[in-house]
Formats: sequence, C-alpha cells, structure tokens
Amino acid sequence: MSRIRLHDLEFEPFIPEQELSDAISRVAGELEVKYADRRPLFIGVLNGAFFFAAELIKRLEIECEITFVKVASYHGTNSTGRVTDLIGLNERLTDRHVVVLEDIVDTGTTVRYIMDALKDHHPASISICTLLFKPDAYKQNIPIDHVAVRIPNDFVVGSGLDHDGLGRNLPGILRIIKNDT
Ligand code: IMP
Repeated sequence: MSRIRLHDLEFEPFIPEQELSDAISRVAGELEVKYADRRPLFIGVLNGAFFFAAELIKRLEIECEITFVKVASYHGTNSTGRVTDLIGLNERLTDRHVVVLEDIVDTGTTVRYIMDALKDHHPASISICTLLFKPDAYKQNIPIDHVAVRIPNDFVVGSGLDHDGLGRNLPGILRIIKNDT
C-alpha cells in the first residue's frame, strides 16, 4: 500500500499486516498461558478495539467471554467539570478475571479512567492488553501487561484506529507523514 490522504493528513505504510498478525498471535499465546482455567472476561474498548478484539479472540483456545464498552467523556457539573462514563457494561465482574482490550495506549488517560471504573466492580484481577503502545507518551504508573507492538510517539491509523472517523478499515498500521516545512 502506498501513501494515503485522510482529511488534512497524509499517511505512509508503517507496520505490515503480517507483522501485526504475528504480534497478535504472540499476545494470544501469553494470554492462553496466564488465563487457562480462569475463564477471563475480555472487555473491548470501542470504537477502536473492534479489530484487535476479533483478531485476538479467534486465536484463543481457552474458555473465555467477551463484551464491549464505550468510554464517554463529557462536561458535567462536578468540580473538575469533566465526567467519564463506561457505557454498556452489563456483566457482573465480581471475582472475575478481567482483561481490558485497547487499540492504543497513548498518554494512558483512558486506561486510568477504565481501571478506576472497573475496580468499583471488585473483579478478581484486571489486566490491560493493547494492540499498540506509545511508551514515550505514557504518563500513568499502571502497568500495561500485554502489548502487541510498541511504537514511537507518532500519530497512526489503520486496523481499527482512525483520524477523525477515517482509516479504521485500512490493513496494517500507517504512520503520519510529518511536513517539517
Ligand atoms: P490515551 O491518551 O492513552 O488516553 O489515548 C486516548 C485515545 O486517543 C485512544 O484510545 C485513541 O482512541 C486515541 N489515540 C491516541 N493515539 C492515537 C493515534 O496515534 N492514532 C489514533 N488514535 C489515537
């Protein structure tokens, strides 16, 4: 695949589909060892994690369940002025082993919100598992337990990740082309 324009930005191929697929298989192997006989509940964070969730889950041969949530952030009337909600969580989490599936962990703000929200449900354990991780951008101290691919602090699209709604359908990962002029 060559360069592609999405809205105002240009992107170039970065991680080929096969490399991504191999990385997802490796993570699936890690999870199978860790969660055999624990019937984990995978929670995919929409919209971006739909691709990773589907690719990961089809590789797992252990007993498991999957559900999806959406993180809604809006201005409210509390002291910080910002309210965050986890929408769509209907499962009982008490004493369950929960694995959060993210498309990308950047600053970690989203992971922090999700962690805090899930802890209130008293699961037996919570792990974070992500397709992409930007270690140089990460600002939290929550461990990211399972990472398919670590990437530099560049804006990327493809395989579920978007730029203003576009690019989620693109295979592999594409990276922004920076114009230094
Ligand atoms: P956070 O900074 O870790 O909370 O990431 C917030 C959200 O920003 C992620 O869930 C993505 O939806 C989005 N995001 C962060 N980096 C990228 C990127 O490189 N491409 C597309 N979306 C991104």
